[in-house]
Amino acid sequence: MIRSNSAASSSWDSTIQQTYTTPVIGLKRGRGLVVEDFDGKKYVDLIGGIATNLLGHAHPSIVKAITKQSKELCHISNLYAHEQGLKLARRLIAMTGDKSSRVYFCNSGAEAIEAAIKLSRLTVKKQLVSAQGSFHGRTTGAISLTGQSDKRDQFKPLLPKVKYLKFGDFNDLRRKITRRTAMVFIEPIMGEAGVVVPPKGYLEAIRNRCDEVGALMAIDCIQTGIGRTGDWFGYETEGIKPDVITIAKGIGGGLPLGAMIAIGECAKLFTPGSHGSTFGGNPISCAAANKVLDEIESKKMLSSNVKKGDLLQSLVEAVPGVTEVRGRGLLIGIQVMDGKSKEIARELQVAGYLVNGANDDVIRLAPSYLISEKQIKQFASVFEKICVRIYA
Ligand SMILES: Cc1ncc(COP(=O)(O)O)c(C=O)c1O
Repeated sequence: MIRSNSAASSSWDSTIQQTYTTPVIGLKRGRGLVVEDFDGKKYVDLIGGIATNLLGHAHPSIVKAITKQSKELCHISNLYAHEQGLKLARRLIAMTGDKSSRVYFCNSGAEAIEAAIKLSRLTVKKQLVSAQGSFHGRTTGAISLTGQSDKRDQFKPLLPKVKYLKFGDFNDLRRKITRRTAMVFIEPIMGEAGVVVPPKGYLEAIRNRCDEVGALMAIDCIQTGIGRTGDWFGYETEGIKPDVITIAKGIGGGLPLGAMIAIGECAKLFTPGSHGSTFGGNPISCAAANKVLDEIESKKMLSSNVKKGDLLQSLVEAVPGVTEVRGRGLLIGIQVMDGKSKEIARELQVAGYLVNGANDDVIRLAPSYLISEKQIKQFASVFEKICVRIYA
């Protein structure tokens, strides 16, 4: 049994491959936004499993739903239908506002992207377009689309014929999205890149260009979906309709679940045998997801997320060392001076807050939707004290 953070770190070093930096702490339990490490120290979790634990940790209604489901059916594969999956698919289709939408369930974000790539291969065109700085996952297809060469290039050869847009550049999209483009993949806000928000009208311009040249538009809402930005999907503020939506992360409320939703004609491209997943949309993950949606709807979290996000942004924007605060709803990037985001993240951890240094300049916050006004104010005050000390 692991009894301390240092024991967890050394056990990690001797067992886990080096794809991640060895964690300094290990967590043993959580409730709401508060988690406890192996040394017994408590933290307010403001990154939530990387934008995933929408209802925090150990939410009673999720615990109840997955316990009940596990006593009925844990897993049946996609050879058979089950109630939770069908219910969830109906709800996701309703969220797209288009009855022609059809859902393909998988287990993660990268798998949802892979499904969309394969869907694009069933059109006559083969060229794909994504954005510089984007992140779409780590599988071979998803990393081919990821616009970050440090993560991508060591794994070449990757998918051919991928072009990367200068994110937010209206002229560049006209140059790179052409009659040869099969599908464009775009994040409504680039999360991993440091919460980068495009200029107003950018997604609409991509939509229009796709229509002009006959390309499909896939919006990667894996980080910005299921209410995080104040809408079900992060593109809704632009009033457009994509052909494909990918979701994962928050939908399962902490359980592995993803989906590729195709709308209109492209929902008919897959045929039996085209694609599949043994675990995709398994009953326990779907039971959790239905509970997540129940809570978001009944507690009106779409609007409260926007209010909470605005409050947080307003409290940190004038803090010394902060050069910009970006994001929408509860996906927030705080840009700081002198490449000190990781140092600030470490200090925050010592002070009892878990945040993510998305890169050297940006601290990313993606907390549970249950975060309270009091927790937001307390965080802002601790953050300010740390920044005053560092930048004095
Ligand atoms: C926008 C976006 N797409 C895809 C992914 C990949 O998701 P997963 O890690 O579940 O494969 C991520 C993960 O951070 C993401 O933020």
